[in-house]
Amino acid sequence: MIIAWFLRILGLLPLVLALNNGLARTPPMGWLSWQRFRCNTDCKEDPYNCISEDLYRQMADHLVNDGYAKLGYKYVNIDDCWMSMERGPDGRLQADPDRFPHGIKYLADYMHSKGLKLGIYEDFGTKTCGGYPGSKFYLELDAETFADWGVDMLKLDGCYTDTDDMAYGYPAMGFFLNKTGRPILYSCSWPAYIFDSTPGPDYQEIANFCNIWRNYDDIDDSWDSVKNIIEFYANDKGNFTEVAGPGNFNDPDMIIVGNYGLSYDQEKVQMALWAIMAAPLFMSNDLRNIRPESMDLLQNPRIIMINQDYLGIQGRRILKMGNIEIWTKPMVPEGKSKAYAVLNLSSGGGPTKIDLPFETLGLTEKEGYNVTEVFSGKYLGVFSANSVQTIWVNPSGVYLGFASFDP
Ligand SMILES: *[C@@H]1O[C@H](CO)[C@@H](O)[C@H](O)[C@H]1NC(C)=O
Ligand SMILES: *[C@@H]1O[C@H](CO)[C@@H](O)[C@H](O)[C@H]1NC(C)=O
Ligand SMILES: *[C@@H]1O[C@H](CO)[C@@H](O)[C@H](O)[C@H]1NC(C)=O
Ligand SMILES: *[C@@H]1O[C@H](CO)[C@@H](O)[C@H](O)[C@H]1NC(C)=O
Repeated sequence: MIIAWFLRILGLLPLVLALNNGLARTPPMGWLSWQRFRCNTDCKEDPYNCISEDLYRQMADHLVNDGYAKLGYKYVNIDDCWMSMERGPDGRLQADPDRFPHGIKYLADYMHSKGLKLGIYEDFGTKTCGGYPGSKFYLELDAETFADWGVDMLKLDGCYTDTDDMAYGYPAMGFFLNKTGRPILYSCSWPAYIFDSTPGPDYQEIANFCNIWRNYDDIDDSWDSVKNIIEFYANDKGNFTEVAGPGNFNDPDMIIVGNYGLSYDQEKVQMALWAIMAAPLFMSNDLRNIRPESMDLLQNPRIIMINQDYLGIQGRRILKMGNIEIWTKPMVPEGKSKAYAVLNLSSGGGPTKIDLPFETLGLTEKEGYNVTEVFSGKYLGVFSANSVQTIWVNPSGVYLGFASFDP
């Protein structure tokens, strides 16, 4: 807060602190290149998978033509390794001329012509994690450049900087983005670089400047990685869950459904939990080549409805008994409807029967609830506070229910 106070003295901040750019009223959705395509710049040997304007155009075409965009997947996000190794003579960032021959503005126009949005990546330090020019000492110019190009979102990473500088650097970039006059959704990696420090991130402060933020390590294409992230969010160190709401969301990182690392049941776990956590849904997969059952999961309208509930409440783990966990997310109206997930994070064996007392889920309205199994959409009838629902949970799997209160 002291930093914010200095910035205010310098006239860099309005008196009322609260990020108010009108964006991310519900968790943003889209596609992001990093997890699947990393820093593959080899367009000679691997033209189909390298970081290039073709890759983003093709993903955009699939978002629209395969039905993702109309469900809300609107952002197409460039990640690291898009730049030229040098700034231009005017000090401005420039895209790699071979891989992005038409430049970034052309890509932004392309996205906008399809009703999509373009996101871009930079780093608060002197270099990006991949070694490309960073924004340190160029924050204002880079914000202006992104706005001039028509960029709609910025993910600002935190490699190559002293973490102590972040407390002024991230707010400063937020200020310069705002100053451009272009609404640009601001994703900060800030807390992910200090979650292990003492006293740890001040999430209330971070929410004053960033729309979404990465709390923790990058996701990998593996079940271990997904489980590890779920555990981090369950523990909620620093109480970040309570900060989530319209305009501000915790980001447990990309959706890896459709890649190599997860079984079908494990893909369901990621979708269920990211929906319950009101997480941004940025797929990082190859939309040109995706298993039909994975595509169905990504496009399941009931899962998306839970994720996009306009109260924006981040769900929590309410119970853990060995490898069984129960998570709930209060939803409209007034938090009285709830999505609930029952997980079995251990692997091996077969499906197990669980008797689930509705009281345990905090479902106590006298009128009862209309209950639906979310993956299939099967309506199960009316359950009351003293009902016990019998469910089956697969190993490394999840049951996802929706108890609707709408009398
Ligand atoms: C800039 O911040 C002000 C004050 O919070 C807000 O009203 C305005 O909409 C913001 N503009 C943009 C482009 O983010
Ligand atoms: C988080 O909440 C708990 C319980 O309400 C409280 O004891 C703790 O001090 C809080 N921690 C932070 C970092 O706000
Ligand atoms: C969870 O799965 C393990 C093995 O995968 C199984 O032994 C255990 O009974 C399951 N627990 C519950 C409560 O379903
Ligand atoms: C359950 O659904 C029926 C049919 O839509 C509706 O009339 C009833 O009010 C709902 N009950 C509750 C508790 O939401």
